[in-house]
Amino acid sequence: MKTLSLIVILAAAPLLSAAALAAPFEKGNIQEGKSIHEEKCNGCHASKFNDDGSKIYTRADRRVKTVSSLSQMITTCNAMLGNNLFPEDELHLAAYLNNKYYKLK
Ligand code: HEC
Repeated sequence: MKTLSLIVILAAAPLLSAAALAAPFEKGNIQEGKSIHEEKCNGCHASKFNDDGSKIYTRADRRVKTVSSLSQMITTCNAMLGNNLFPEDELHLAAYLNNKYYKLK
């Protein structure tokens, strides 16, 4: 009986650690995030960074350093847009930005 439960625990361990290591925002759709970003976000950022919106994410003193600060910044910017995004849009945006720029784990 003891051996059996040990086998069960050993068999389940990789599943648990895979879930723990899963990328943040993995439920977001990167392609979807990319198109929302082009449509709603890039213009304002580009107007502040010499027509290159990507610089806001690659500048040396960029603000976002953690998973939660990325979510927070997206919510803040969404508020400037009049909160017209759905929560799942924010998730798609986070997945896209994290995949392309931040690489937060
Ligand atoms: C009306 C203008 C405006 C719009 C629209 C806008 N942003 Fe921003 N965004 C800013 C400004 C200004 C900053 C820089 C804030 C700072 O440095 O304090 C910023 C910063 C950010 C950052 C942090 C960059 C860093 O320094 O790491 C993220 C992430 C971000 N925006 C995401 C978005 C997303 C996603 C959208 C579209 C839903 C969006 N923004 C739309 C103005 C805007």
